[in-house]
Amino acid sequence: MLKKGKQAVQINLQNKNMLLYQKEIYVGKRFDSDEAFDTIYPANIQRLARRHWTPLDVARKAANFLAVENNAKVLDIGSGVGKFCLGAAYYRPNALFYGVEQRRSLVVNADNAKRVLGFENVCFINGNFTQVNFKDYDHFYFFNSFYENLAGTDKIDDSIDYSGELYNYYNRYLYKQLEQMPPGTRLATYHSLEDEVPRGYHTVRSEIDNLLKFWVKI
Ligand SMILES: C[S@@+](CC[C@H](N)C(=O)[O-])C[C@H]1O[C@@H](n2cnc3c(N)ncnc32)[C@H](O)[C@@H]1O
Repeated sequence: MLKKGKQAVQINLQNKNMLLYQKEIYVGKRFDSDEAFDTIYPANIQRLARRHWTPLDVARKAANFLAVENNAKVLDIGSGVGKFCLGAAYYRPNALFYGVEQRRSLVVNADNAKRVLGFENVCFINGNFTQVNFKDYDHFYFFNSFYENLAGTDKIDDSIDYSGELYNYYNRYLYKQLEQMPPGTRLATYHSLEDEVPRGYHTVRSEIDNLLKFWVKI
């Protein structure tokens, strides 16, 4: 009887390990390419990927730079459907990735993708980045989130108001927040015009023809 019980426990463990292994393979396959990853989203979101969501290769490079210490808290300012955060969380499971995003519909997509992947080191917040306390985070990622406000640029949708005034206001606000962070704070910018980067931040490396830049506050 006891033996039967032991055997049952062993079989259960084997099944559990097999399921974990299958899940790892299933998740890993998603990260084979951007095309494979993007199928986690509905078609209307996939169509926006090339212009608006971070490619996996960029997420991996930026995550390696930002997740410098164990349990580092990294904030993506304007996280969209969460592609940077989810990619970064996969490549650097030792760090915590947070995304703040103003459009609720995009946060719903980000949370759905997080659920499918089963990641626990990612958190999405619905709101304007001006509402978050920067001091709650260690390092930052920024993919030119305010650019949509400029006339003649590609928009994600028509659910919000755009204006040059908003572009300047957000850039100045971000500049001030980053300026108040302590020395050692890391920032990764992608496609940035660099208006939001305070003087105290020094470029330590750049990649992809200067489109991806790594900064450290001195
Ligand atoms: C270029 S997308 C980048 C998305 C994501 N960081 C990624 O790399 O995959 C910029 C996002 O920033 C968001 N955004 C722009 N201004 C914002 C603000 N003031 N507060 C919060 N989110 C904002 C936009 O809604 C958009 O989803």
